[in-house]
Amino acid sequence: MTRIKIAIDGPAASGKSTIGCILAEKLGYLYLDTGVMYRAVTWAALDRGVPIEDEEAVTRLAETVTIEVIPATVEDGRQYSILANGRDITWEIRSPDVNRYVSPVSAYQGVRRAMTQQQRRIARDGGVVMVGRDIGTVVLPDAEVKLYLDASLEERSQRRYLEYQQRGQCVTIDEVRENVMLRDRIDSTRDTAPLRPAEDAIVIDTTSMSITEVVERTEAIVRAAIAAAEKRD
Ligand code: CDP
Repeated sequence: MTRIKIAIDGPAASGKSTIGCILAEKLGYLYLDTGVMYRAVTWAALDRGVPIEDEEAVTRLAETVTIEVIPATVEDGRQYSILANGRDITWEIRSPDVNRYVSPVSAYQGVRRAMTQQQRRIARDGGVVMVGRDIGTVVLPDAEVKLYLDASLEERSQRRYLEYQQRGQCVTIDEVRENVMLRDRIDSTRDTAPLRPAEDAIVIDTTSMSITEVVERTEAIVRAAIAAAEKRD
């Protein structure tokens, strides 16, 4: 069976990882949320006291830290476990400090080069659902399916706020909205690989859609693409 590449991009908290994970499971594909890689580099910089504004030092760190995304090792609601140099940082990468600094770190060209290289290697043989900001535009421009999930700022902030509440993390809706807005601004205005839909991406506004509706819609798109790829091969 032909195993294609599926790219899912979109702004913060637009439901990319929820949908990406469900699609990957249905297809028996590998799922990779590339946001966790940028978060892991940011966490490592903060942990080692590397100044975030020191582009050279942060880039060196991105080139040397070993990030592993492996099946969940603990049953605490995680989709997977994230290790940085062998240490479990699955929840640490969701901290307010990482939220604050991840977009500046992700704007560094050298950091992106290091992450993009690893992501392309992972996707080489297809059968992958990759989620991020620049997957359809830069990382996998040859992906057979490119989806761009969006939703209103208010809806996205509410969704993220609910996630924090369920995890018992103490934040206000205003703080969540501020961070989502700030990251979107930095991510979409940076010089290297800015957040935007690829020209051939299918844009879906999920503001008033349920998860089930988004899954149904995207699964239909993906199944059609797999059928087309099979006919071609
Ligand atoms: O889950 P959420 O949408 O809040 O964010 P994420 O996907 O975990 O990504 C965190 C941050 O990493 C983003 O705000 C971007 O700054 C950066 N990122 C990126 O630059 N490129 C990617 N392919 C994925 C994430």
